[in-house]
Amino acid sequence: MEDLKNIKILAEKEINSARNSEEIKQIFQKYLGKNGEVTRVLRSLKNLDENKKRSIGKLANQIKQELEQKIEIRKKEIGAEIGKNKTNKKIDVSFPGHKLPTGHLHPITKVKREVEDIFERLGFSVVEGPEVESEWYNFDALNIPANHPARDMWDTFWLRQNESKVQNSKSKANTKSQRLLLRTHTSPVQIRYMEKNNPPLRIIAPGRAFRYEATDASHEINFYHVEGLMVDKEISAANLKAIMEKFFEMFFKKSVKIRIRPSFFPFTEPSFEIDIRCLVCGGKGCSVCSQGGWLEIAGAGMVHPQVFKSAGLNPKEWQGFAFGMGLDRLTMMKYKIKDIRLLFKGDLRFLEQF
Ligand code: DAH
Repeated sequence: MEDLKNIKILAEKEINSARNSEEIKQIFQKYLGKNGEVTRVLRSLKNLDENKKRSIGKLANQIKQELEQKIEIRKKEIGAEIGKNKTNKKIDVSFPGHKLPTGHLHPITKVKREVEDIFERLGFSVVEGPEVESEWYNFDALNIPANHPARDMWDTFWLRQNESKVQNSKSKANTKSQRLLLRTHTSPVQIRYMEKNNPPLRIIAPGRAFRYEATDASHEINFYHVEGLMVDKEISAANLKAIMEKFFEMFFKKSVKIRIRPSFFPFTEPSFEIDIRCLVCGGKGCSVCSQGGWLEIAGAGMVHPQVFKSAGLNPKEWQGFAFGMGLDRLTMMKYKIKDIRLLFKGDLRFLEQF
């Protein structure tokens, strides 16, 4: 009996001072393993008489259980200590960390933000308008009446509506057509903004536009535009030229030569086409600029008096310039992308290059 009690005292001491799971394992083997000290006592019971067998057996079993419990408790304590103070666990600080997969912005979004940033620095505000637009804002207010051949410039997605309830621009003079369409350009934002804000004003309106047309390397049914508008008492084409030159220089990070050619847009008079010197060949002629040395980049002009009237402003009092540029075009030039369709496919092999 005394032996057993001594064994217990010793075992408990050892358990309490055990430092790690290896030591605990050894203590278990020493006392409770196959040839452990307590196990041996239990095995020798069969040689004892009934009385001793009962009393020693009872004590030995009790000690066995107690030691098992204590070992379990100490195991948990050691686990917690290791967790708290990792001194026992070796950490290789030179091991490379786990790389977390992260997404990134689409090239058009990047360019859109850059364009916004540049124009903001030039004193312009960024404004937005709806993608589902009415016939009035998309066409009539911009001096593009129904049946006018100019409408052919914009192949339009019309939205299905209950025709009998909807006023269209052919139905009655002096009513604003509520027929809905997917906006073919961001120019209607000019009208929406001028209706609510008095000049002087400088805005850009970036956003998505839609055309009902066959797709190829340079045409998509949806694309991104940025519209610009500057209105004040004495705005001239010289201001337009200066702003555009400054913008291209900041965007392409080098000085870019621009060329202004006469053109036609119903909402500007006079109207221009703005070209920039080809960034690939520097003007010598290459496949990107179709050997011409110039790249068509924007439509622009002086705001038509009719447009001011549509927005409730007096054209005798105000004047301004407007321009419209393809953001996809700018993206394609910046990153030398040859096919616009790549921008809208969502193909990761393409997108992961940015
Ligand atoms: N809205 C024209 C387009 O769809 C682009 C444009 C041309 C916008 C001339 C303008 C402008 O503001 O003055 O192609």
